[in-house]
Amino acid sequence: MNAKEFGKRGWTPERLGSLNGKTYVITGANTGAGFEATKILLSKGAEVIMLNRNEKKSNQAIADLQEEFGANTKVSFIQMDLATLDSVRNAAQKVTNTVPKIDALICNAAVAQVAKQAFTSDGFESQLGINHYGHFLLINLLFDKVEQSNGRIVIVGSEGYKMGLKTIQFEDMNWDKNYHPNKTYCHSKLAQIMFAYELQHRIKKANKEVKVYVCHPGASKTSLINKDTPFMTRVTWSILSASPMVQSAEKGAYPEVMCATENNLKQQAYYGPTGRMYWGGPVGECKLEAFALDRAVAGKLWNVSEKETNCQWNF
Ligand SMILES: NC(=O)c1ccc[n+]([C@@H]2O[C@H](COP(=O)([O-])OP(=O)(O)OC[C@H]3O[C@@H](n4cnc5c(N)ncnc54)[C@H](OP(=O)(O)O)[C@@H]3O)[C@@H](O)[C@H]2O)c1
Repeated sequence: MNAKEFGKRGWTPERLGSLNGKTYVITGANTGAGFEATKILLSKGAEVIMLNRNEKKSNQAIADLQEEFGANTKVSFIQMDLATLDSVRNAAQKVTNTVPKIDALICNAAVAQVAKQAFTSDGFESQLGINHYGHFLLINLLFDKVEQSNGRIVIVGSEGYKMGLKTIQFEDMNWDKNYHPNKTYCHSKLAQIMFAYELQHRIKKANKEVKVYVCHPGASKTSLINKDTPFMTRVTWSILSASPMVQSAEKGAYPEVMCATENNLKQQAYYGPTGRMYWGGPVGECKLEAFALDRAVAGKLWNVSEKETNCQWNF
């Protein structure tokens, strides 16, 4: 599949039919691409459960969505901070108890380019801890629920996966010796997608029906670059985002909505905008670099992640 299969404009939400009866769980949906993805899904009649860390922002997001789609629109929020594994466990328990099914679990939340080395409450470097370990545990805890609906898991990656070390730094996962805002972010996004491809292999071997899809949002106008990012990154990003090179947050949401809904997507693939530098343009399949599929590294990462998050996969 490539962008052209969906016509010159690539995949757009116009391809979506009714999503009545479908249920989506999405992390980090009070703003940015996650909020826009929620909007698109709600506009087609789906139910969306947002797993967000900030209650105030989440209530505002729900109020905005209800204003747009009506008070009965099926959107709700469960508090979850990916930087605290106990919070992930509590949120997963609430989802398990209250959400009847999950057609797709969309792992969208992230922090990026954190200026100075910081730690999650469990002591992990914050970008790896939030972006990878938090989602690793969440997916583990919700996997059975996703499997009950023959559902999907969507990992929102980043082109950054190929802009850093291009492997996992097992000898110093917290970057104590060489912390770098961007390289450390890239490391966390590579970890997320390597885990996703390894999960695909293990699901296939275990004859399970769950699909895992990986995408990236291109370069999109969101709040990802914020007060926690280095000053020069903020300046550069504000200049770029004022240019047509950076697309809207809504367009940035297309790949994750596509991965949550479209039929006949491929495993071992990487979806997103296919235009120049993959910053924008028609959404379709992008080139995936071979190092992201290195199973020796992915297997080791899997074991480290199980140990650090104190969870076990049973396949
Ligand atoms: N924008 C781009 O150009 C770009 C490029 C490449 C990849 N991406 C990826 O796209 C995805 C969406 O990001 P975005 O650009 O839409 O950024 P965004 O506007 O900053 O949204 C990120 C979301 O993640 C949430 N989040 C952050 N830390 C969290 C935590 N500890 N626990 C729970 N939620 C947390 C944020 O919550 P708060 O509102 O409370 O902070 C927010 O809802 C991310 O995976 C990112 O890596 C974006």
